Amino acid sequence: MLEIDNLSVSYNSEKKSVHALGPLNMQISSGDIYAVIGPSGCGKSTLLNVLCGIIKDFEGKVLLKGEDLSPKKHNIGFIPQNFGLLPWKNVYKNCMLPLKIKEQPIDSAVKERAEYILNKLNIGDLKNRYPRELSGGQKQRAAIARTFIMNPDLLLMDEPFSALDALTREEAQELFIDIWNQYKTTTILVTHNIEEAIYMGKKIVILSHCPGTIVKIIDNPLFNTENLRQNEDYLKLSESIRSIIKRGWKI
Ligand SMILES: Nc1ncnc2c1ncn2[C@@H]1O[C@H](COP(=O)(O)OP(=O)(O)OP(=O)(O)O)[C@@H](O)[C@H]1O
Ligand SMILES: [Mg+2]
Repeated sequence: MLEIDNLSVSYNSEKKSVHALGPLNMQISSGDIYAVIGPSGCGKSTLLNVLCGIIKDFEGKVLLKGEDLSPKKHNIGFIPQNFGLLPWKNVYKNCMLPLKIKEQPIDSAVKERAEYILNKLNIGDLKNRYPRELSGGQKQRAAIARTFIMNPDLLLMDEPFSALDALTREEAQELFIDIWNQYKTTTILVTHNIEEAIYMGKKIVILSHCPGTIVKIIDNPLFNTENLRQNEDYLKLSESIRSIIKRGWKI
């Protein structure tokens, strides 16, 4: 369980203070996947930066499995918008990097898991390639593989599909959900895209304008439905989210 309790973040400089996020309260059960949408500048990336430990200066409490969240204690996977692959390492070495940093053993079980995940994401034969030799969609899948191989307690994604064209994006979303269904990693996905939130989110969190607070949490009845994109209820749910946005991110 991830507990976010009265989280509030401000950016302070000598001249001024910007209240960027909160107060925010959320409880995310282990094995859930939350899609977070909200207007530009409402604090979505700020939230992920708190959860992955980049921002340490915040008010409130964040607990993972009952302990103060910390990248030292917990395994936290983060897929940034630009995928975060190191250009001088090939796909396989990029995938093993989080384990090396954490000084975790790369034994035969880990190697088997890595092989399985890379094949599942259709990049098994690209292991020796460098990021510059990959398409956008392939880089994206390498970044997804890397996080699932490290078996994180919490997986954070900041608009991970936004750089992809529409078809590659849908394919990447489908591969992601397929592999997520197997490992059920607790995940928070930030997106600008309503359809993506409905496709990927078991729960959909809608944030207000800056400083972002929760407008609504939707328990998504359509999560994991087959052929979702052709489903009539899919259009109805996306229309109801669109109407919240049209009202200025208010209900
Ligand atoms: N380092 C910083 N110093 C001061 N203000 C900042 C800093 N980083 C972000 N902000 C401000 O904090 C607010 C939240 O920013 P954040 O990047 O979290 O928004 P976001 O929801 O991720 O936006 P987008 O959808 O455009 O990516 C914004 O108003 C932004 O201008
Ligand atoms: Mg952002």
